[in-house]
Order: sequence, then C-alpha cells, then structure tokens
Amino acid sequence: MNTDVTPTPSERSPAESTFSTHATELAYLSGNFAPMTRETTAFDLQVRGHIPEDLDGRFLRIGPSPVGPLDPASYHWFTGTGLVHGLRLRGGRAEWYRSRFTLSADAATALGKAPISGPGDGQLPVNTNVTLIGGRVHAIVEAGALPIELDANLESVARSDFGGTLEGGFTAHPKRDPITGELVAITYEPGRASLRYVVVDAEGRAQTRAEIATPHEPMVHDVGFTRNFIVVLDLPVTFQPQLAPAHVFPYFWNERQAPRVGLLPRNGDIDRLIWFDAPSCYVFHIVNAYEAQSGEVIVDVVRHPRMFERDRQGPNEGTPVLARWTLDRASGRLSERVLDDHGGEFPRIDDRLGGQDYQFAYTAHWWGDRVSSGPVYKHDVRSGRTEVHDFGAGHASLEPVFVPRSGATDEDDGYVLAYVFNAERNASDVVVLSAQDFAGPPLAVVELPVRVPFGFHGEWVPDQP
Ligand SMILES: [Fe+2]
Repeated sequence: MNTDVTPTPSERSPAESTFSTHATELAYLSGNFAPMTRETTAFDLQVRGHIPEDLDGRFLRIGPSPVGPLDPASYHWFTGTGLVHGLRLRGGRAEWYRSRFTLSADAATALGKAPISGPGDGQLPVNTNVTLIGGRVHAIVEAGALPIELDANLESVARSDFGGTLEGGFTAHPKRDPITGELVAITYEPGRASLRYVVVDAEGRAQTRAEIATPHEPMVHDVGFTRNFIVVLDLPVTFQPQLAPAHVFPYFWNERQAPRVGLLPRNGDIDRLIWFDAPSCYVFHIVNAYEAQSGEVIVDVVRHPRMFERDRQGPNEGTPVLARWTLDRASGRLSERVLDDHGGEFPRIDDRLGGQDYQFAYTAHWWGDRVSSGPVYKHDVRSGRTEVHDFGAGHASLEPVFVPRSGATDEDDGYVLAYVFNAERNASDVVVLSAQDFAGPPLAVVELPVRVPFGFHGEWVPDQP
C-alpha cells in the first residue's frame, strides 16, 4: 500500500472512549468521532481475503469532520464540515482510498482552497449523504443547504440547484423508486412554515409537487414511499431557536407538538393528504414502506423514544427500536409492532425493493443513552429473526450498505459493505460480508491508512449501473 498522507499524532486519537461517548462537551469530538483535519489519498491498499470481482465501483461515505476553529461547548455532530470517503474496487483489488472535504465556505478557507461556484452562499456544511442524482455524485444535507456535485475523485465541483429547478435547499435522504427511477424527497429549512414534497427525475431535474403546511417547523430527516403514497414524518422535534439562541443546531424536542405521519398521494394532491396519530417518539430513518395486499400501508422505522430533549447535543436519549407501523386508511388508525429491540440505526435494504414488500434490513448497533457502536445486524422483518455480525473487540461500524451480487435475483444474494473502525490500528477497514453468510467470516477486509470518523450515509456507485 502506498499513501501520501500519514496521520499526525494529533489525528491519532486515544482508543479509550472509542466505543461510547457520554453527554459531555467532547462527546462528538473524541475517540473515533475526533475530526480528521487533512485529506488523504492512498493506492493499492492491503487486502485480507478476496474482494469479489463483481464489486466494480466506488464505495462512498460521508460524515462530519470539522476543520477550522470551533467551540466544543456548542459543537453539534450534525454541523461539522463534510468529509467524503471513497474506496475504489476493481478486479478484486482495492485501487485507492480518498477522503476529500466538501467545499463549504469554512472548508475552503481552512484548507486554503478556492471556493467553489454555484448558487447560494455555501455557508452551511454539506455532510450527511453522498448519492447519485441525475447520474452524477452529489454530497447532500438537509435544512437549507444546496447539494455539492463531486467528480470521480471526490473533489467538489460546484454547488447545484439542479439547473435552477430546486426550490430552497435539498434533503439528506432522497429515496429512489427503483420502478420509476424518480428520487422523492421532503425538504425543510429554518424559517419556512411548510415542507416541500420534491421529485427529481432521472436527468436530475427537480419539481416541487406539494407544499405541506407545518408552521411548527418540524425537523424531517427522511421520507418513505409506496407505489401510491409519500410517507411524511411530522414528529415533535421542531425549530426552537428561542430555547438556546447560541445553539448551532436549534431543533429540540417539543412536547406541545402532536406526533403524526401523513400519506400524501405521489402526484402531490394536497387535498388528499391523510394524517395518522403516531406514537410519541422521533424517527430519523424510515427503513422501507409498502402497500400490503389488504390495502394497509406498512412503514418500518427506527424509532427513538425521545430526541434533543435532555441532551441538546445528542442524539442519545434512549435505545432506538426497529418498529413496524401499520396505517389503516379505512379506520384512520396507526398500530405499532416492535420488530427488534437490539438498538440498531442507519437502516439499509436491498434498494431494488424500495417501496415494495421486502424481507431484510441491515442496521448498525446503537445503544441506550450513550452513543455506542459495534456490530451490524441483519433483520428478517418477516420472521423477526436477527443475525449479528460482530467485527470483534475494538471494532465498530456504522451504516452497512447492501450491494446485490452481479446477476442476483434473491433479495439477500449479495454483499454488505461497511466502514469499520479498528482500534488496534487506530484506523478504519472496509469490510465485505456475504449477506447470506452474515455472521460468518468476512469475504474481504481492506485496510485503510487512516481513521474514517463515525459519520452518516453513503452509497455503492457501480461503474456499470
Ligand atoms: Fe440519516
């Protein structure tokens, strides 16, 4: 392996407190949350095992890694500068690993780089997801900031409003309908008393199809969809800057706000929007949704009991559970069944089954009132059975991404890829699991030269889609 950057001692964080962090001002700045302050390029990486040859593409991930001055007392994990990571696999080899900051204004200044062009002012960090939009890779975030288009080597190209078609900011979680090819999204931003339902076509052109009045300004992180409906989360974390004027992330628990979930027709007919009372909780992520043969709408979620109530620099207020919400349009009622209470987050599925009946979901461990990391889970949402892959002592994963094997038709015939922190090396590995032998030994472990700080979301981008 060759690398042009070796982590400095200051970037090598102590292994202690790597796996959990308490509600202190350093909660999201220590252990493997500690920022990497430099970009890395490395070639011909060390591999244990054998990388499947049909994994031909890039495994992308993004998360926060603040550069420049910050105040630990007010820092919030959701607001750090975006650092995108990519591992290039081809022909059974790990050709390169790159990390590049997404060039918001703070990153350009801190790194001494020229600011990128594009609409908007680029002041807000772009740090939450990296995905294909209109055939091009974009880093994306919610709450008002525009996407940043990236090139093949993860360099920031320009901010984008999708050729002037995007109203306002975008979201961190557009969902791709594999049948229509559309991306669907719910967008929001501070100071705006409505949510937008936005559809982006295969060419990357956005259309606002509905405005949903929400004067209480909820934080809406994700969206769900079925063949006929968009699933709209309206849960009691709302924009309340008056509670903490200096707080950099002014979204807090709001006991006065009744939790609800909406079903909006895909065509955006706001007059046919139906709301259902929901359990008191917060949901970042919808695992999947579909319409059952009975006509009920199934919405699988990762449900947190509370969010940003006691700890405004969370998220860490109780164990999240995998829950199934059944929405009965005839009665107007929502019923809930807990599918798994291991404490998993960052759910992924076989994206070929988005919006359709499905069997398997994959999550990463997330436990209790402390942010913890460790194994990954494979959930059979039909039987309720959960398989565990424990990477071993000193190893911790976040989001596991499922990639179908080339030519596969079975839902779990493929691979699960994850960036896994390895405390022994104080660096990260990319681990490739067989989804059908989930608890078994990895197919391959690619050793990266640096840590990939705990972060958010990403995507496998194949060379041949
Ligand atoms: Fe997310």
